[in-house]
Amino acid sequence: MNGARAGAFRPDESLALERDRADPLASYRARFHLPRRPDGRPAVYFCGNSLGAQPRGVADELRRDLDAWAERAVDAHFKGEAPWYGSHRAFRRVNGMLLGARDSETVLMNGLTVNLHLMMASFYRPGRGRSKILMEDCAFPSDTFAARSQIRWHGLDPDRELCIARPEEDEATVRTETILSLLEREGERIALVLLGGVNYYTGQSFDMARITRAARRAGCVVGYDLAHAVGNVELDLHDWGADFAVWCTYKYLNGGPGSVAGCFVHERHGGAADLPRLAGWWGNDPDRRFRMHLDSEFLPVKGADGWQVSNPPILALAPLRASLGLFEEAGMPALRAKSIALSGYLRSWVEHVADPRISILTPADARESGCQVSLRVRGEAQALFEALGTAGIVGDHRQPDVVRVAPVPLYNTFHEVWRFGRALRAWSRGGTGAV
Ligand SMILES: Cc1ncc(COP(=O)(O)O)c(C=O)c1O
Repeated sequence: MNGARAGAFRPDESLALERDRADPLASYRARFHLPRRPDGRPAVYFCGNSLGAQPRGVADELRRDLDAWAERAVDAHFKGEAPWYGSHRAFRRVNGMLLGARDSETVLMNGLTVNLHLMMASFYRPGRGRSKILMEDCAFPSDTFAARSQIRWHGLDPDRELCIARPEEDEATVRTETILSLLEREGERIALVLLGGVNYYTGQSFDMARITRAARRAGCVVGYDLAHAVGNVELDLHDWGADFAVWCTYKYLNGGPGSVAGCFVHERHGGAADLPRLAGWWGNDPDRRFRMHLDSEFLPVKGADGWQVSNPPILALAPLRASLGLFEEAGMPALRAKSIALSGYLRSWVEHVADPRISILTPADARESGCQVSLRVRGEAQALFEALGTAGIVGDHRQPDVVRVAPVPLYNTFHEVWRFGRALRAWSRGGTGAV
């Protein structure tokens, strides 16, 4: 699967429109609210890698829980059409589909970084000569902060214990071979391999199957931050054998700003009641949860649920019923096929414009990338970002010199990529990009 940019590229608008007419997922776009430009014209929203668009079904789902709260208050936990108690279990099937996980292996709770800390409390256990954490260069800052603070929490020195896999000179992304050879050289001292499944900056998707295999062979624990991977690329966490993973739901999963995050714990750890963890009553055996002081011993419920700390935020979960339902309907294989085609088309536009200031950081091979295409714009990233904005195209600028654009298969179109290409060409030729 290489870029899926079949046939010679032609910049004709009619061809983009033709591809939209042939798109089997085209109808999903109408199920989203999409942002508009200040003058009311539709914007091209290529920022779903940051905050996904709002599914139209969200308001109804929220309304249902607001009504239950108004009408039943505390009784809504256990009574009514859809009692809140245990309702988090309804997400297991779709989580399983998105993550390649078994029923007991996932739970939605907290925020991503909180979940990362909870996972590291259980799975980063320096000792017996292993204390290092292997991460990729340019990991999302929150992950680096979490890892450094965990290392310090154990009384160790983050500068010594962090082991960073870096790109080769003059390359933008980290080679799998680099990670594998670090594991070979340093594996005995590495306690935890912690990688972003898809890197937020470059858009590189790691070969998680191969890396997980090698890391486990070296005796390391393996965890992934899947913020940019879930709902974007196909995942198979259970079979890959990852120990844990965390993700947020406000990007490709369209769960809303700050929506509830996810957590995967591999089945082989799910029954390990003696695994150290930061416990709370919601991770306790449900049969004892309400026996309060009669049964005050903590006996974690099996599976990822046993890492829950607090009772679930019902109103924050409601939008996810609408948004994740769309993934169940559309299915990841179809979404992925369209995503490869959309991002491939966008790459073709960038190559066609051939601006010497712009290079593409994201690997061309579809096995190593998702929706996002990261453009390095030497000296002019802010200028390009603003020009795209003037043309009604919403991407983002990440310091120092990267503009990220992410056509998302659930709601973006080939014609929108065509509009991006036209704006890029206009900017490159010295215009403002405004079209
Ligand atoms: C890769 C990655 N990790 C972690 C975070 C932080 O997530 P949260 O604020 O939900 O903890 C983000 C936020 O965008 C992210 O992109």
